[in-house]
Amino acid sequence: MKTHAVGLVALSAFAVLVSGPAAAADGAQLFKSRCGICHWDPAQADEKPRQGPTLKKLIGRTAGTEKSFPRYSPAMKKAGFAWTADKLDSYLENPRTTVPGTTMAFVGLKKPDERKAVVDYLLKAAR
Ligand code: HEC
Repeated sequence: MKTHAVGLVALSAFAVLVSGPAAAADGAQLFKSRCGICHWDPAQADEKPRQGPTLKKLIGRTAGTEKSFPRYSPAMKKAGFAWTADKLDSYLENPRTTVPGTTMAFVGLKKPDERKAVVDYLLKAAR
């Protein structure tokens, strides 16, 4: 009986270890689930066309200027800023406020920790 209870405690401690801090947002995973239908993952080789532009070499690139992408909105083409962590953060929070008229059909990542995770991921993967 006593060993059984100890076993249970050990088991639930293990469950906390496994599921607990996983609540901390995982950028690669979020990119895959929230952006991956429209953007090829910049960490992957053999890039395939998607509905959105490639994000390879995104950091520092002027918005709306990726040559391989033929379908930028007029709004994105004349946005005129370069992509930094701050710009990404506000675009991902609310695309249409940051670039009014953008055709990126994405409601936005409302949780600051999720945005930070995706931005951090892109800072590494999209250079
Ligand atoms: C439903 C498809 C879709 C989803 C989902 C989506 N995007 Fe986009 N994205 C687009 C399209 C289309 C554009 C071009 C927008 C324009 O020209 O106004 C774009 C543009 C961008 C740009 C500007 C790139 C450049 O070359 O200037 C960035 C950065 C971006 N997306 C990041 C993301 C990230 C990060 C996510 C996930 C959090 C995401 N997008 C989710 C379709 C999508």
